[in-house]
Amino acid sequence: MNRVLEHKVIAVTGAGGVLCSEFARHYAALGAKVALINRSTEKIEALEKELTALGLQAKAYQANVIDAEALAAVHTRIRKDFGQVDILVNGAGGNMAAANTGNEYHEKALAPSLRTFFDLDMDSVSGVFELNFLGTLLPTKEFASDMVGREGCSILNVSSMSSYKPLTKVLGYSAAKAAVNNLTQWLAVHFSHMGIRVNAVAPGFFSTKQNKTLLYDEEGNLTERSRKILAGTPMGRFGVPEDLLGTVTYLVDPKASGFVTGVIIPVDGGFNAYSGV
Ligand SMILES: NC(=O)c1ccc[n+]([C@@H]2O[C@H](COP(=O)([O-])OP(=O)(O)OC[C@H]3O[C@@H](n4cnc5c(N)ncnc54)[C@H](OP(=O)(O)O)[C@@H]3O)[C@@H](O)[C@H]2O)c1
Repeated sequence: MNRVLEHKVIAVTGAGGVLCSEFARHYAALGAKVALINRSTEKIEALEKELTALGLQAKAYQANVIDAEALAAVHTRIRKDFGQVDILVNGAGGNMAAANTGNEYHEKALAPSLRTFFDLDMDSVSGVFELNFLGTLLPTKEFASDMVGREGCSILNVSSMSSYKPLTKVLGYSAAKAAVNNLTQWLAVHFSHMGIRVNAVAPGFFSTKQNKTLLYDEEGNLTERSRKILAGTPMGRFGVPEDLLGTVTYLVDPKASGFVTGVIIPVDGGFNAYSGV
């Protein structure tokens, strides 16, 4: 495989997750030294073993992305193990059910068992904001200090389809990912004189642990909502993690995208382009 990321140190948050573990595998295969950062340790330790057994360079680091002190401690260790960070991928993110409504629309007669707008749990809404927005800002604040004054450095945020137009029910996560888009553009401008590029990828609908219960019922059949999603996706299928690899490599490779900053690229089978008619 082409080693286009040789000598690059890439810190990936959420590296234990379905999507970001694939990004980490790909970056390592392209020659990067990959710091696998995650809240829980089991999955990143297994990934470290898997990658090092292949002769690739990767190391697991436990940290919560909303804990500035933990990030600073991990940063010190990464510098010692690999050197300064060239590329940060802010992949840790996700939703909480209590930050969603149970209904798409507020109606006069609602099933009492479903969470209405008025029942939304504000701690969960804050929690989703903290994870997705602060969990992008704090690692950037920590790791971008390595990038100042050095060439070929960049930050890649992971946004979502829900950032452009909010998904029904999904109040907290949609707003938090919209904030991630806004932050991506702010950072791109702010760091432009330093040559640090800041971009985002906005995955469409992928079949992963995070949204399994949204997409399939207990028998593994498509839910009504997932049929709606597929009807809104011109390519007519859910994404698979491999669909993202070209985009997440392009955006961090300075030779390929050296003049690209402040963009949010949808990888969505056409969902964002489709008006429904
Ligand atoms: N899957 C999709 O269809 C989809 C679509 C659009 C956007 N996205 C975005 O893509 C990114 C990855 O999604 P995914 O589907 O791969 O999710 P996932 O499988 O749930 O993985 C998320 C990873 O982030 C880690 N994490 C969660 N909170 C953390 C924290 N506070 N500090 C450090 N690590 C934390 C989790 O670790 P633990 O093991 O500790 O939980 C987990 O390993 C997220 O930003 C998500 O919002 C996903």
